[in-house]
Amino acid sequence: MGITNTESGTRVDEIADGIYRISTPTSLIPGGFTFNQFLVEDEAPLLFHTGLRGLFPLVREAVAHVLGDAGRLRYVSFSHWEADESGALNAWLEVAPRAEAVCSVTAALVSVNDQAARPPRALADGEELSLGQRSVRWVDTPHLPHGWESGLLFEARSRTLLCGDLFTAGGADVPPLSSADVIGPALAMHETTPYLVRGPHVRPLLEKLARLEPGVLGLMHGSSFQGDGGRALLALADALGV
Ligand SMILES: [Fe+2]
Ligand SMILES: [Fe+2]
Repeated sequence: MGITNTESGTRVDEIADGIYRISTPTSLIPGGFTFNQFLVEDEAPLLFHTGLRGLFPLVREAVAHVLGDAGRLRYVSFSHWEADESGALNAWLEVAPRAEAVCSVTAALVSVNDQAARPPRALADGEELSLGQRSVRWVDTPHLPHGWESGLLFEARSRTLLCGDLFTAGGADVPPLSSADVIGPALAMHETTPYLVRGPHVRPLLEKLARLEPGVLGLMHGSSFQGDGGRALLALADALGV
């Protein structure tokens, strides 16, 4: 794996067994910023985050690099309803005729039932979705980091938590997978761009995620993290003072 588009610098890296991080560097903010999607390869491949509509050709090219044909995609999932998470949903539903949107029950109710070209598969908190050899578990995280409908996906076999906007870090030229500190960069970003809704709901949700004991965190913006993910999630709660 590696660069799949030389012009944009879009690249694909396997960050855990059969889990691929698709990353496009941008100059959205000073110092740069990445938009990442995660592809879980199996009989029924799943993409977590559709990417922005404007990035669709690049993400499709990267998905095809892994799957051979992007039309093989079976599930297109996202944490919450926002352009970088779900903006290209209908483009995916068009290019992959068997693909279904996968989201929270709340997301289906408030946005996806109306906005998506086909009805979504709504998952309840803790519900497992089989992809063939492996499955992913939906975890509701309402208002964490933002959005009533928010949730995340956990893949138990590789103990990977696709953690969406949690730990969002700046930088365009970042390693695909790192064991470096994720708290400092996340706090620095939150200081200039307070995307995380602080409140009494935050710590219980971070504790719920920590109990999954993830060994890999797939960040939507930044390097993926390899290490004690549970400890990092609890440290984030401490650092936020919630
Ligand atoms: Fe977001
Ligand atoms: Fe995001």
